[in-house]
Amino acid sequence: MHTQVAILGAGPAGLVLSHLLSLHRVESIVLETKSRAYVESRIRAGVLEHGTAQLLCETGVGERLKKQGMRHEGINLGFSCELHHINFAQLTGKAITVYGQHEVVKDLIAARTSSGGQILFEVADVSIDALSTNRPRVRFRHQGENRELSSDWLAGCDGSHGVSRTSLPPGALRIFEKTYPFGWLGILAEAAPSWEELIYSHHEDGFALFSMRSPSITRLYLQCKPDEDLTKWTDERIWENLERRLSFPGDKKVRRGRILQIGVTAMRSFAVEPMQYGRLFLVGDAAHVVPATGAKGMNLAVSDAWCLSRALDNFYNKGRTDLLESYSERCLRRVWKAQRFSWWMTSLLHRFDVNDAFELRRQLAELDYLASSRAAATALAENYVGLPWEG
Ligand code: FAD
Ligand code: DHB
Repeated sequence: MHTQVAILGAGPAGLVLSHLLSLHRVESIVLETKSRAYVESRIRAGVLEHGTAQLLCETGVGERLKKQGMRHEGINLGFSCELHHINFAQLTGKAITVYGQHEVVKDLIAARTSSGGQILFEVADVSIDALSTNRPRVRFRHQGENRELSSDWLAGCDGSHGVSRTSLPPGALRIFEKTYPFGWLGILAEAAPSWEELIYSHHEDGFALFSMRSPSITRLYLQCKPDEDLTKWTDERIWENLERRLSFPGDKKVRRGRILQIGVTAMRSFAVEPMQYGRLFLVGDAAHVVPATGAKGMNLAVSDAWCLSRALDNFYNKGRTDLLESYSERCLRRVWKAQRFSWWMTSLLHRFDVNDAFELRRQLAELDYLASSRAAATALAENYVGLPWEG
């Protein structure tokens, strides 16, 4: 088998890349280790930046997003038992859309398969080689057979635990890493959202986040230990913690409901430089991971994929190699700004050390400043709705 661009991974990065390439008439084949049903139901991120939603709508995969996506013109910051609204529309003229990552994945898979695109699900034993030649190769097993796919270019969109980054020779990449002493316990619950906007809540007991997926489904998170034992969290303990950490004046309170899904996500910052090795390009989580506060992970995966699709379009349709050569540098400028923002939101809102009274006062002063200064609120808003994409 041969294709122009071999893509490892059918997450947001790999699927957006394959979709955009097809619009530029560049051929690709996507290889994915999990089944279609698995990737279409994997609950992860939910906030689409202004530019992400716009790209999906403008490229023909936004029909369901336009109907079911929930447009939000701001977020609430909760601290000292008060809610403060940050109005993105007023501060930046832009908004965000709440629409589950798995719904984006469903829309992209439907678009690729209906236009004859090839996605091979449930591949196994994936390995890559010949990256420094002009015919990189992927070997894998599919439906019981050993297969080999050669390509002009290889896109490593296989997430933070994939093979594309880890197959590179030692020393090929510089690694930047930071781990945080906490994780998020996330639940999806069958309950109508109590508030209209997302709430990022700073609380002495630890951070909590109120979000939603639809008019009848709430998504909620609690700061917890990075290796939290879920068996210690009864439904009652989860709701009781959420109610305490999301308690504000007025009659609205967290609405309880059947818990449909529960999981723990570790919080870490990770990035590699460069995002390219020979004919392999790293895209999305394969190249960088951000802590979830700030909702940047999926959005960065989409902006990387857009950047690479433009470079490959220029290569195949205009004979230009300059955008391929500068792919890593252009992506990393945006990646590091998102790393900074995610680190800042994480540092602002979480309890790092229960004995550190100075840190608590520093966080509260910063939150108070955000609630009272248009300049400070604008800096948050423009990062949250998404910084410009590097052309
Ligand atoms: P992924 O979505 O990870 O996709 C990679 C794909 O590659 C997967 O489908 C995987 O099965 C496949 N794969 C792996 N190895 C191979 C291989 N060898 N060959 C072929 N395919 C392979 N971000 C937020 O902004 N907010 C959140 O609330 C949030 N929650 C998260 C919860 C969890 C548990 C995780 C893991 C991430 C979360 N994120 C969140 C981050 C966000 O979901 C990611 O940034 C986003 O999924 C990145 O997209 P991607 O396509 O780069 O990688
Ligand atoms: C959601 C996830 C995030 O990481 C975030 O910052 C906001 C919302 C969500 O899953 O809805």
